[in-house]
Amino acid sequence: MQQLRRNRRLRTNDAIRSLVREHTITPHDFLVPLFVIEGKNSKEEILSMPGYYRYSLDMISSEVKELWSLGLKSVLVFVKVPDDLKDNKGTEALNPEGLMQRAIKTIKEAVPEMLVMTDVALDPYSSYGHDGIVEDGYIVNDQTCKVLAEMSLSHAQAGADFVAPSDMMDGRILAIREVLEKENFKNTGIMSYSAKYASAFYGPFRDALDSAPGFGDKKTYQMDFANRDEAIKETIMDIEEGADIVMVKPGLCYLDVVRDISDVVDVPVAVYQVSGEYAMLKAAAEKGWLDHDAVMLEQIMAIKRAGAQIIASYFAKDVVKLLG
Ligand code: PBG
Repeated sequence: MQQLRRNRRLRTNDAIRSLVREHTITPHDFLVPLFVIEGKNSKEEILSMPGYYRYSLDMISSEVKELWSLGLKSVLVFVKVPDDLKDNKGTEALNPEGLMQRAIKTIKEAVPEMLVMTDVALDPYSSYGHDGIVEDGYIVNDQTCKVLAEMSLSHAQAGADFVAPSDMMDGRILAIREVLEKENFKNTGIMSYSAKYASAFYGPFRDALDSAPGFGDKKTYQMDFANRDEAIKETIMDIEEGADIVMVKPGLCYLDVVRDISDVVDVPVAVYQVSGEYAMLKAAAEKGWLDHDAVMLEQIMAIKRAGAQIIASYFAKDVVKLLG
């Protein structure tokens, strides 16, 4: 039989390829992680994350204005807490004048329309570098949920639009939702890190915030990376408890999980392309072994293709600038 169907016709030139392209990348896809520090006039480059910075509050305004002008409308805020303010219970996390609470207000003052999401977990505040309260070497669940709920309320009171619990305690979404409803923050959303794996890709982030666990690892709360079906259970439970957006983290090694979840849930799915993923590409590009921009776009597109509607990525600014 003569060949009638030729798939290559649809790849003949750029115009036809653009016409039939199934996915596109826009600035609206991104959530930009922001690292905030105490001090004045500081913009510190993170050693293991070349081209990514921690900003003091006075420097954050111009950064968020730039993001807004690039069409990047959502930020995910993390703070680096001075050592002397850390304890086992995350007391400083509840301080209405704490760095996170001031950061939220500063961002909202600079760009009121910017969507501000805040990290909710104890690790940056914990003297043990763990995401919850430690008792006899164990990260206790229910007491931690209480603190996370109070912390979320404090962020909402400071003006956060969404809280983003990244800790993986059981039942924290319900605990947070109940407190927000009770205190009349009915429109404050929750983006849950629902399927967050115990991953070695978080190393550079822990450098950025000086938040590495002081003992052990996070395997009693973050997921085992050998598990796929469990991610669906975790995610569905979070939705039942009140999560508005769910997340898979890390990104590239977990795209099977992203696809599974986006096939079964009816809420937006976010993916966090984490610090180690960023660092790997920067290092390979620095050596001249990979084409930075081409690989970056390929990776972001792969995350979208897998089913992500929202991508938290340290590449957000680079991508948007590249796309023009
Ligand atoms: C902590 C938290 C981590 C990240 C986001 N929130 C680190 C961890 O769980 O140890 C990692 C992000 C990244 O690597 O880019 N709750």
